[in-house]
Amino acid sequence: MVGGNGTIGKRVSTHFSKKHEVIIAGRTSGDVLMDMGDSESIKAMFEKTGKVDAVVCTAGDAKWDKFNSLTEQDFYIGIKSKLMGQVNLVRIGMTYINSGGSFTLSTGILADHPVAMTTSAAMVNGAIHSFVKALALELENNIRINVVSSGLVEDAVDKYEAYFPGHNPIPMKKVVNGFVKSVEGNGNGEIIKMYDNC
Ligand SMILES: NC(=O)c1ccc[n+]([C@@H]2O[C@H](COP(=O)([O-])OP(=O)(O)OC[C@H]3O[C@@H](n4cnc5c(N)ncnc54)[C@H](OP(=O)(O)O)[C@@H]3O)[C@@H](O)[C@H]2O)c1
Repeated sequence: MVGGNGTIGKRVSTHFSKKHEVIIAGRTSGDVLMDMGDSESIKAMFEKTGKVDAVVCTAGDAKWDKFNSLTEQDFYIGIKSKLMGQVNLVRIGMTYINSGGSFTLSTGILADHPVAMTTSAAMVNGAIHSFVKALALELENNIRINVVSSGLVEDAVDKYEAYFPGHNPIPMKKVVNGFVKSVEGNGNGEIIKMYDNC
């Protein structure tokens, strides 16, 4: 679980730990230290973990700012971290995933319902959705890929509420269930949307 100690990640990893062996990866904490923005670091992580049954990502950054303030470099933050970080987790992880295994990525409501200051974050989320749908058509050995797209989660309300006027925070149990559906269900190429159709 990349990002398994984060706001969403710790809820998801706590749940999965009841039934599964969970290996947490992150830049500053976890069982394996790595940076998903660096493909060498992703490869080094998988060399340490060995083969796994599921890869879950609840990490990835993108810069939030007004479009007129975002530089080209600012856009590359989201492209390198949240977009290519997750693409590379799958690309490199394909060698280390067991038959019948799954990849679960994270995006968010911004792909469908952006708010102000999110041209970069919304763009990256949408790209990941297209990536997941396209890759699902090519996967072999019963390997699956899905993405959980959540609205503003309850545990992050204090931090982000001002950006999401009128949005109903998503209960953490519901968010966790999105990941459970992806990992323990049979779906492939699904965008698991955990938010009201606002
Ligand atoms: N919070 C929300 O309401 C919400 C809603 C929908 C979608 N999302 C998306 O869900 C994901 C997780 O959100 P969150 O609120 O749980 O974030 P968070 O609290 O900041 O947690 C992110 C976790 O990922 C790790 N991480 C960050 N960048 C990393 C990198 N480059 N390489 C490896 N690990 C990295 C962090 O640990 P280190 O700092 O130690 O690396 C941290 O444990 C994000 O992509 C976010 O956009 C969030």
